[in-house]
Amino acid sequence: MEGSQALVLFTLYALLYHSVAADHTARYLSEAEEKELQIQLKSLNKPYDEYGITFDCVDIYKQPAFDHPLLKNHTLQIKSTSFLKSMNKNLSSETVKLPRRCPQGTVLIRRTTREDLIRAKQIQRTKRIGLQEDTVSVQAYTVGVSFSSWNRPEKFYGISADLDVYQLSGILDSQTSATQMIISKGERGPLTFHNVLQAGFHVHHEVEGDNFTHFFTYWTSDGYQSTGCFNIHCSGFVQTSEKLTPGLVYTLRNLALSIYRDRKTSNWMLYNDQEPIGYWPKEILNNMADSSRIQLSATASSPTDQPSPPTGNGELGGASFKKIRVLNGGLDPYPSNVQHAETFLDIGKPFYEGIYNVDSGFIYGGPGGWEPPKF
Ligand SMILES: *[C@@H]1O[C@H](CO)[C@@H](O)[C@H](O)[C@H]1NC(C)=O
Ligand SMILES: *[C@@H]1O[C@H](CO)[C@@H](O)[C@H](O)[C@H]1NC(C)=O
Ligand SMILES: *[C@@H]1O[C@H](CO)[C@@H](O)[C@H](O)[C@H]1NC(C)=O
Repeated sequence: MEGSQALVLFTLYALLYHSVAADHTARYLSEAEEKELQIQLKSLNKPYDEYGITFDCVDIYKQPAFDHPLLKNHTLQIKSTSFLKSMNKNLSSETVKLPRRCPQGTVLIRRTTREDLIRAKQIQRTKRIGLQEDTVSVQAYTVGVSFSSWNRPEKFYGISADLDVYQLSGILDSQTSATQMIISKGERGPLTFHNVLQAGFHVHHEVEGDNFTHFFTYWTSDGYQSTGCFNIHCSGFVQTSEKLTPGLVYTLRNLALSIYRDRKTSNWMLYNDQEPIGYWPKEILNNMADSSRIQLSATASSPTDQPSPPTGNGELGGASFKKIRVLNGGLDPYPSNVQHAETFLDIGKPFYEGIYNVDSGFIYGGPGGWEPPKF
């Protein structure tokens, strides 16, 4: 009995040694050490499935972000050094209910599949060739509020807002519906210095592979040309949360998002309420000493031969961004008179709605149903 166990263990060790043959420091572990190691490995590598998606708990230092060539010398930043005074300190928000999914020292990462990469390639291709290749083109309709510092002395260093999150149904695989924060610099060119960071929630079959509502991120440092991607379809975005990660199916009813530049490290932090989700390291951005434009918006896209899909909760003005705070260099909220808010609306009632008010925030949403006239 004991003998056969020892043999099994020996065989395992032999296999282990074989696979780490180059590691001369390898040694026999005590039984206790081995047990501990196995438990650790199990919790580290135990994948779990949710809505048909596989997630892993990955050693925070070994996450895919660090494969980015510009992050060779990057120092991991687990928490912000800058205290965001404006951040919602009232933890009544639903998001604190998110269960901790990974052990300490690891981060939650959505496993990228072959299909994910194939679809991501398709997105790149569609972007490059424009959307006009097919006989049926795709049209996007956006409603939002923007804060811009163009030709003005103000510089923006962050944004925070509370977002209502809804599960929308009936969105076709060829359509998308997204609600997001977009913070950027260099919008007026050249493209190679157009840096953009995005976070929010969407139904987007091409990105996520299903029709659920997902938490998502996006970044580019060259105006959507060749850098950046959604979620972690490429390396760059550093994940620090054990709970919330880009690509997760998001079923709670709100998100309290902040994106802001850390005053010490210059990394662009992404927080949900008081919890760090991750950040965009300064190394992958080439023009984000500050931001010149912030947008809170909803975008519905659809092939032009289909009625456009809903946004928000599917009702006119049924969804909102609340507690909107545009942050200055000290990460304090700018007074509303220097935020220079402008609302924009591609298609209005009865399809979509968008109203900004300093006190009540940005109210938006609609059932969609718009079809461009046929000529
Ligand atoms: C990392 O540091 C080394 C040594 O200082 C330097 O040669 C290299 O260029 C750095 N790489 C990046 C990507 O910053
Ligand atoms: C937190 O928010 C809830 C609901 O909005 C409110 O009832 C409560 O008084 C708030 N608590 C604090 C400490 O502000
Ligand atoms: C998602 O699509 C499936 C079939 O493709 C459909 O049965 C389901 O109702 C859809 N769910 C939503 C939320 O639209």
